[in-house]
Amino acid sequence: MENLTFRATWLPLTIVAVVVFAAGVIFGFRRLRDVSVSNLPTLQHSSAGSAEHFADSSKCGQCHIQEYESYLQSGHARTFWSTRDFPLRSRFDQLKFDDPERNTTFHYRATISGIDVSVPGLFDGDRFPLQFAFGSGEHAITLVTLTPDGTGIPVGIEHRVSWFSKMDEADVTPGQLGLGVQHGIEHFGRVIRGETLEQCFECHTTSCSIRGDKLIDLIPNVGCERCHSSSVSHAAVMNDDPESAIIGFKERPWRTAEQIQICAECHRGVDNVKVSQIRRDNPKIVRYQPVGLVQSKCYTESQRLLCSTCHDPHQHAAKRTTREYELDCLSCHSSSPQATRCSVSPDTGCIACHMPPIELHPSASFHDHWIRIREKDDPPAVED
Ligand code: HEC
Ligand code: HEC
Ligand code: HEC
Ligand code: HEC
Ligand code: HEC
Ligand code: HEC
Ligand code: HEC
Repeated sequence: MENLTFRATWLPLTIVAVVVFAAGVIFGFRRLRDVSVSNLPTLQHSSAGSAEHFADSSKCGQCHIQEYESYLQSGHARTFWSTRDFPLRSRFDQLKFDDPERNTTFHYRATISGIDVSVPGLFDGDRFPLQFAFGSGEHAITLVTLTPDGTGIPVGIEHRVSWFSKMDEADVTPGQLGLGVQHGIEHFGRVIRGETLEQCFECHTTSCSIRGDKLIDLIPNVGCERCHSSSVSHAAVMNDDPESAIIGFKERPWRTAEQIQICAECHRGVDNVKVSQIRRDNPKIVRYQPVGLVQSKCYTESQRLLCSTCHDPHQHAAKRTTREYELDCLSCHSSSPQATRCSVSPDTGCIACHMPPIELHPSASFHDHWIRIREKDDPPAVED
């Protein structure tokens, strides 16, 4: 049943990191005492240097008010936080969590610098800072800290405990059950390094780079620029000359099939999974909407189905009603000469029968974007 969990999907490449780690590449971490809260790295917001390449989304919002306001309600506007100000911060204050596999208890505290944790009986009770919170908390929030290893190279510690909103409780971070402890620091979580570490930040921010145990040029969340590249020059042109006919974009991939590629950078596309994984009975791939969508006949036989056919990319997906999504289906399945009407239910109920939610974790289910006539060996659906 391992495939049904987030184990391999939450962080596919971490497995590589763990193997490297187990091979003993790490020689010893800076003493925990040195990674105390007083040294908690600060978040340095976008410097003048980075602003040349990326604009804060609020700048775009000055002119594109409607897109900006609905964007603020979407998951993309809330993918990355400092632990000083993330939504479920108060849940961690004074929380005690018993590790179900190890004979230890985590004691949390919220301070003005962020969240920290200690484990009585270990490291003389030293407190370990937890710097960053990943995720809007729609499903879950996972905490991550940057710290140099014994050789001075920055590594990430994905904390052992996450917060799960649906259950409104802390539990072991998906994929971490069963991991052993070879170095003391692993009591606090899984060690992530190299490209895997960078990718965590790349998918959850608009821009940032890791320097030592600090983040520089940080623009948190998935902002306007992440999808509309080169829009800084556009914004500059529009600012200088609001009547300008030139809007500063050379090409508009977000209106063509390349749009799916933009989304797949983070939601994962066919290039990010093994061909052998692309099977209709494999529940794991429902998490990768771009992979499923391009398998469906709706995509292959229309050649014009994009993510934005059904989603306003500036809006939270759950804000649309099921009826609105059905009308998207019917835009092809009632009048288009290429597409047929359903012989079972021609007008309603499309999503529950043809792209139902599949549960991957008690706190997270995903709609199967491989739109199809479902058969017995398909993964079982759950209630929406
Ligand atoms: C000074 C005002 C202004 C600013 C700032 C601005 N825009 Fe625009 N933008 C416009 C106008 C005017 C248009 C053309 C009319 C329209 O489509 O709304 C436009 C068009 C667009 C389009 C549509 C292009 C198309 O092909 O239809 C996108 C996408 C866009 N802007 C994104 C952005 C992003 C992202 C930012 C921030 C980096 C931004 N804009 C900043 C005024 C502005
Ligand atoms: C830079 C990475 C990145 C890109 C590019 C990206 N996403 Fe996302 N997306 C995320 C992350 C991270 C989340 C999780 C947000 C959260 O924590 O709730 C998310 C969540 C979502 C959600 C669910 C939350 C909501 O607000 O409805 C939808 C729908 C979605 N993305 C659609 C898209 C589409 C469509 C595109 C392409 C036009 C796209 N995404 C491009 C990273 C990305
Ligand atoms: C390849 C891009 C990618 C990488 C790498 C990545 N994420 Fe995500 N993450 C996403 C996308 C897309 C979503 C939203 C859809 C989903 O849950 O799969 C998401 C969702 C999440 C959520 C759930 C948010 C919610 O409430 O719905 C958490 C927590 C999270 N990621 C943490 C992490 C952490 C921690 C790391 C690294 C240690 C990481 N992610 C690495 C793309 C990525
Ligand atoms: C997750 C990717 C993503 C993000 C983030 C994003 N956009 Fe878009 N945007 C798109 C896509 C895809 C389209 C094309 C929609 C279509 O063609 O129907 C689009 C279209 C637009 C348009 C053209 C008019 C329209 O609505 O179709 C404007 C203007 C725009 N975006 C502005 C913004 C602004 C401002 C922000 C930040 C507040 C932003 N976008 C954030 C993906 C994104
Ligand atoms: C851009 C047009 C378009 C949209 C939007 C669209 N489809 Fe399709 N769909 C097609 C085409 C074309 C086919 C192939 C011809 C046919 O079977 O009608 C197809 C096929 C199907 C099939 C048969 C698949 C099979 O494997 O035999 C189902 C079921 C289906 N669509 C359901 C849906 C549902 C449900 C939605 C909305 C969530 C939807 N479609 C949205 C164009 C579309
Ligand atoms: C034919 C319509 C359709 C298309 C095309 C489509 N989606 Fe969706 N998507 C849905 C529906 C319906 C939901 C469920 C919304 C709800 O009620 O929460 C959804 C939900 C999502 C979610 C939230 C998590 C989940 O799976 O339930 C993400 C993320 C997402 N879509 C991403 C994408 C991306 C990326 C693309 C393009 C590759 C895409 N979608 C194309 C209909 C569509
Ligand atoms: C109660 C479940 C259910 C609902 C609701 C439903 N379908 Fe179907 N649909 C099916 C089944 C089962 C088949 C296969 C019928 C067959 O093979 O005879 C099917 C077949 C199809 C086909 C292939 C053409 C055909 O009839 O064989 C399309 C296209 C389709 N559905 C689209 C839709 C759309 C669009 C909606 C919403 C308006 C929808 N379906 C609602 C169960 C459903």
